[in-house]
Amino acid sequence: MNQNTSKVGVVGAGVMGRGIAQIMAQAGATVMLHDAAPEAAARAVESLEQTWQRLADKGKIDAAEVAACLSRVSAVASLQSMAGCDVVIEAIVERLDVKQALFAALESVVTPTAVLATNTSSLSVTVIAAGCRHPARIAGLHFFNPVPLMRIVEIIGGARTSSQTLDTLRALVATTSHAGVLAQDTPGFLVNHAGRGYTTEALSLVQEGVAGFEVVDSIMREQIRFSTGGFRLGPFELLDLTGLDVSQPVMESIYRQFYEEPRFRPSVIGAQRAAAGLLGRKSAEGFYQYPAKGAVVPPAKPASVARPKSPAGDAIGNDGIPVHVVAQDHAPGLASLVRRLGGRVVDTIEQTEDGGLVLIAPLGEDASGFAAQRRLPAVRTVAIDTLFDPGESGCVRRSLMPTVATAKGTLQAAAALFGSDGTAVSLVRDSTGFVAQRIVAMIVSIGTEIAQQRIARPADIDLAVRTGLGYPLGPLAMGDEIGGGRILRILQAMHASTGDPRYRPGGWLRRRAQLGLSLLTED
Ligand code: NAI
Repeated sequence: MNQNTSKVGVVGAGVMGRGIAQIMAQAGATVMLHDAAPEAAARAVESLEQTWQRLADKGKIDAAEVAACLSRVSAVASLQSMAGCDVVIEAIVERLDVKQALFAALESVVTPTAVLATNTSSLSVTVIAAGCRHPARIAGLHFFNPVPLMRIVEIIGGARTSSQTLDTLRALVATTSHAGVLAQDTPGFLVNHAGRGYTTEALSLVQEGVAGFEVVDSIMREQIRFSTGGFRLGPFELLDLTGLDVSQPVMESIYRQFYEEPRFRPSVIGAQRAAAGLLGRKSAEGFYQYPAKGAVVPPAKPASVARPKSPAGDAIGNDGIPVHVVAQDHAPGLASLVRRLGGRVVDTIEQTEDGGLVLIAPLGEDASGFAAQRRLPAVRTVAIDTLFDPGESGCVRRSLMPTVATAKGTLQAAAALFGSDGTAVSLVRDSTGFVAQRIVAMIVSIGTEIAQQRIARPADIDLAVRTGLGYPLGPLAMGDEIGGGRILRILQAMHASTGDPRYRPGGWLRRRAQLGLSLLTED
């Protein structure tokens, strides 16, 4: 344990304070725990004892360690007891006035060299420190819940925080099991800022009527295949887990704090459902239903796709479907996939006139616009998402999107063809950029903006997002795997067709994509 961080005070003995006290004591620090509510700190120490005992029962620590950890933690009745602390970490109620009052009180208790840190998740560190006599020694130390398991902590420098203060906190974090990442004091800091893309874009897709929430979830869970895997939870499952009472205010607050930056624009769906008490698991009903603990009512399966009919009304097999594949540089394997599935690849559009299909693979464009611009017969045109290769052996779900004029039978024929090898098929309404393209592009867009604004170093952005949000990759590596050029193309096309500045690509992404550089490249 570093000499300057061996005595740690924790104020607030709730969920977070308790977890912070646990990992600090495990790292060897002497920890003093204080709470305004009588007995709360003592109860927290008791619960820590149980926690350590459980870890010992599981063989994760031995009896001597339980005793050593316990001997290092004490509940203290007054703030005055924190006088000898090297670092005091605040984890009290999320209210600016209460936090400011606490920091003012702490200043008069601790020594001039002590560092004061706040675990706030949504308030500005700079604003909390503004009323203090020595704001240079105040910083953010943002842990995630549950603290012992979420091994990442953001170290936040406010406008007046000294580099010495940040160094002290870095040294403290280095003694623990957690990785520390430096981030600027900006709304949402790093992880909560980077997490905006996943759920807000998913809500936009549903609000626009592109797909139902369960379709969006299954696409995000099953169609995304990075080298390290996919998303464990769909965006709506995630919202149900967190609870809209927590997520909706965070979405609103980050949007307002960034002066209504369109990339963070929340959806009316979230506000409505939060008002209706459809919070998620905690209220037994959110986007899904949870009638009992652990039980989830799965949404009704979409109606199975009927066998296609020929214009004469006879059922036709896949073998008979003539498919004209509109060649595209980013989707080279489409024709061979169609052949493998039993489709008959034809050279000209005219050859699809008799119950055939014109297959397109737009990036960031909608199927209708794509067909109109290239004078394709919209009635026979269907788009397939190629963000991840739909012909790869690991593919378990493919997404199809008709134009607004595509004949029902044609869409059904396409769904039957692309599901004929047992792969699930999701049908979504026409949208600029399908579901996966839109959500992944927004995650990369927001991640690259965090890098552009120098809120954190590129490698730290990816590390914090992987650890804090459990994504398979950080946003910058995600962009690299898809290809910066493809992400840029998706965003540019979406921006061009919608006119919505939400989709404008930022400079960090554009410059690196144009030069063919990794999105992790620093300048
Ligand atoms: P909590 O409600 O579980 O605990 C807060 C504790 O602070 C309570 O025991 C309360 O009695 C005590 N308290 C309130 N005012 C006090 C004061 N003036 N002096 C001393 N003690 C006081 O809250 P939780 O969830 O532990 O959150 C604490 C802080 O951590 C908040 O700032 C929150 O935004 C932040 N945070 C919470 C996360 C979470 O997932 N719960 C994640 C990351 C940060």
